[in-house]
Amino acid sequence: MSADNTIHGQWSSRLAFVLAATGSAVGLGNIWRFPYLAGENGGGAFVVVYLACVLLVGLPLMSAEILLGRRGRRNPMDAMRSLALAERRTPWWGGVGLMGILAGLLILAFYSVVAGWLLFYLYRSVSGWAAVGTAGLDRLFSSLLSSPLWLVGTHTLFMVLTVTVVAMGVQGGLERSVKILMPTLLFMLLLLFGYAVGTPGFGEGVRYLLVPDFGVLAERPALLLEALSQAFFSLSIGMGALMAYGAYLPKHASVFRMACWVTGLDTLVALLAGLAIMPLLFSYGLEPAQGTGLVFKTLPLAFGEMPGGRLWAIVFFLLLIIAAWTSAISLMEPATAWLIENRRFSRPLAALTAGGVAWVLGVGCALSLNVWQEYKLFDKNLFELLDYLTAKIMLPIGGVLIGCFAGWVIARRLTLAELHVPDGMLYRAWLFAVRYLAPAAVLVVFLDAFGIIGFSG
Ligand code: PHE
Repeated sequence: MSADNTIHGQWSSRLAFVLAATGSAVGLGNIWRFPYLAGENGGGAFVVVYLACVLLVGLPLMSAEILLGRRGRRNPMDAMRSLALAERRTPWWGGVGLMGILAGLLILAFYSVVAGWLLFYLYRSVSGWAAVGTAGLDRLFSSLLSSPLWLVGTHTLFMVLTVTVVAMGVQGGLERSVKILMPTLLFMLLLLFGYAVGTPGFGEGVRYLLVPDFGVLAERPALLLEALSQAFFSLSIGMGALMAYGAYLPKHASVFRMACWVTGLDTLVALLAGLAIMPLLFSYGLEPAQGTGLVFKTLPLAFGEMPGGRLWAIVFFLLLIIAAWTSAISLMEPATAWLIENRRFSRPLAALTAGGVAWVLGVGCALSLNVWQEYKLFDKNLFELLDYLTAKIMLPIGGVLIGCFAGWVIARRLTLAELHVPDGMLYRAWLFAVRYLAPAAVLVVFLDAFGIIGFSG
């Protein structure tokens, strides 16, 4: 093992890293969470705020996170700890990495339950749609949520898939699968979008998604926080997934350029998913605010009417499962690397342990949708609580601290070399974003969401 390497091996190329990081970023966040949040938050206004967050906060923080991973070359906790010590600062910075490791497992718990829904819909596509039409799809989704057996069963299956890849090491299988997955997923989304173009609600759907009506800010006081936290969630930043992946990155690749690619692809997929789904809502006279079931209640309508629709449905759900899988793998990698490096576990045992924790929590999430639905904290069941705690609190705080660490603690000469940008405007803009803009944005949005300042009425 050379000083430049980790015990986990390296990506075979820059492209391999970009693909793996895109595999982490593109997932349920883009195709499940983005459309339903846009639908709940009035469409255009949400999308505009979201895009601003991605560009001004997401991209700089993603660059910061990847560069810390490549310099630290360890799991997020030990990477931040050793980098802090090298700069003669307190090793407590490692705590930020540790919080990220925990956040990954908490996200994985509900993420895997939703991925299980996809497995159920894949099964239904293969066995033939029993239910067609909007009412039928509505019933199908509710019956899934009320079945502990299906929820726990599919969640378990998904966790087994995830643990298996992580136990084998993330490079081999992941690189190969993402290379095929990404282009095919884009193709499928374009196909669905093409279908949406021909539906009567197309114009209205596109307008809903892209033309902002900031009047909704008054009715949706949490809109800013929803959009900001979705940027963190969708880009996989704030919990060390990209830091862990950055640790396996060969030297001499421009971190900034790679972050641009990942951010661009992730945003493209989210927008395409939104553009494919929103027109269907208006064409079928559905309410945009369908909540977590939105994708499951709309896309099958399109498949139901396409020639060869059943086959397309199978391909689509399969792709989506693989996209969720590559994200889930990255959610587990920080905890797994930590157990290996810090606790001397073998990789399979580490994967099994991390997966076991997420599985138990996931069972709780699944049951909180039916048999345990009366148990609520702050008016949220466990599923909603974990989503809220991670996406809205842990990721933004973790992300900002990661940015501050890269911007204030690490020497400029080092960040400059890692980012691989000229020492000019672009670098200064990055430094400004991680030092001031991101912390200020998160602070303002938090104060607004908790009603301390009244921005959105
Ligand atoms: N970005 C992933 C998605 O959009 C989810 C994720 C969040 C993965 C945080 C890793 C870290 O589905």
